[in-house]
Amino acid sequence: MSEPQNSTFRPRIFSGIQPSGGLTLGNYLGALKRFAALQGGEAETIYCVVDLHAITVWQEPEQLRMRIREAAAAFMAAGVDPAKSVLFNQSQVSAHAEMAWLFNTVARVGWMYRMTQFKDKAGKNSENASLGLLAYPALMAADILTYQATAVPVGEDQKQHLELTRDIAAKFNHDYKVDHFPITQPLIEGVATRVMSLRDGSKKMSKSDPSDASRINLTDDADAIAQKIRKARTDADPLPGSADGLKDRPEARNLVNIYAALSDETVDQVLARFEGQGFGAFKPALAEVAVASMAPITKAMSDYMADPAEIDRVLADGADRAEAIARPILDRTKDIMGLLRTR
Ligand code: TYM
Repeated sequence: MSEPQNSTFRPRIFSGIQPSGGLTLGNYLGALKRFAALQGGEAETIYCVVDLHAITVWQEPEQLRMRIREAAAAFMAAGVDPAKSVLFNQSQVSAHAEMAWLFNTVARVGWMYRMTQFKDKAGKNSENASLGLLAYPALMAADILTYQATAVPVGEDQKQHLELTRDIAAKFNHDYKVDHFPITQPLIEGVATRVMSLRDGSKKMSKSDPSDASRINLTDDADAIAQKIRKARTDADPLPGSADGLKDRPEARNLVNIYAALSDETVDQVLARFEGQGFGAFKPALAEVAVASMAPITKAMSDYMADPAEIDRVLADGADRAEAIARPILDRTKDIMGLLRTR
């Protein structure tokens, strides 16, 4: 069998976000901001609110519906333009769930047990986790490969899932002696691929952290943002002149990375301005940049949320467009596997 040639696939970017709770600055810098920047290039861009992934852990139905719309609003507020990208929610395009089943027969159980996200989310009582939580990465591979996506922008924490997606594509191509799925490239780029907690520089900023002070939420107002930055954990040393000097200072490095990502500068450019200054000077400057970048997004999100029918209309149109790409690829996959298509 020859090596799969990704050049035979048209460039296509896919990524997704779970609607399982308020989104954070980590989601914005690690994902949404980059999704917007990737539009209008050579590759078609397809973005998805992955609601089927969210229900792998319990969600209150009424709250989930609201959060799906809120995630869609966040995409648009961050600059994802439904005229330039396909934007939809996963459960409306049944090809995802169908492809996930096909991949459940390709992926091995052992691959799933090795996933760190499963271990983290299942906790000690993994026998009691939903079967969907274990199979989660097969559905994620289905999201990506149902569009034959060639590149997937994500934060660092999704790297292992993307490796598994590549393993599924390679095993499928190998077992069925085809070059049907691309070996997708992860796009984990920039200074904000792992935004850390404001309270603990060794932990990822996360919507599931019990401390609200650990994160900036996309719904926080200017006062809350400024206060959280003021209270962020730091050290007592002045800022160094270059990135090297931040190596063993996780909290300091995190704040400088956030500044650089928000202001579209390199870490060295930021440090060149703040070299020798302490956090007494740096934190107010960071708060100012953060408020200036986030306030328009928070405002746009609440404007979109004021018109849920319009969000639903955008998502429905996106689902139609997604379906038109996904369906023929799913049908071809079934053909390759020997499933009988009668219509
Ligand atoms: P989710 O919903 O947890 O996060 C969405 C995106 O935000 C990124 N992210 C971060 N980036 C930097 N710093 C952080 N602190 C931070 N927290 C979150 C994530 O890396 C991700 O890019 N399994 C995925 C959703 C998914 C998906 C897909 C992604 C389902 N199908 C197909 C890509 C392609 C997840 O749980 O992301």
